[in-house]
Amino acid sequence: MRIAEHPIIESYQKGRKVTFTFDGKEMEGFEGEPIAVALRAAGVMIHRYTQKRHEPRGIFCAIGRCTDCVMVVDGRPNIRTCMTPLKEGMQVETQYGVQGGRGETGETI
Ligand code: FES
Repeated sequence: MRIAEHPIIESYQKGRKVTFTFDGKEMEGFEGEPIAVALRAAGVMIHRYTQKRHEPRGIFCAIGRCTDCVMVVDGRPNIRTCMTPLKEGMQVETQYGVQGGRGETGETI
């Protein structure tokens, strides 16, 4: 699920391989890549469920604008996983509902 070569983007140096957990399940990714990329490479498509309709959401804009990718990371809710670099030992969890009601920059989610 990863692009090894790209005709426009020059060679990309991956970080070292690290382990993290997703809903308690151990996974691997590369240090510094967005959490959402590591999850996508592992086949995870659902990052959160909406509060009212309990609808699944995942990567949509991938540039930190839509909040569809927010998850609970190391106990902190509303983390935009498309913009947050992966680190060794991170605990990433599916987010249910609003959990605090505010995104990283204070907007309503
Ligand atoms: S996918 Fe839109 S903010 Fe992350």
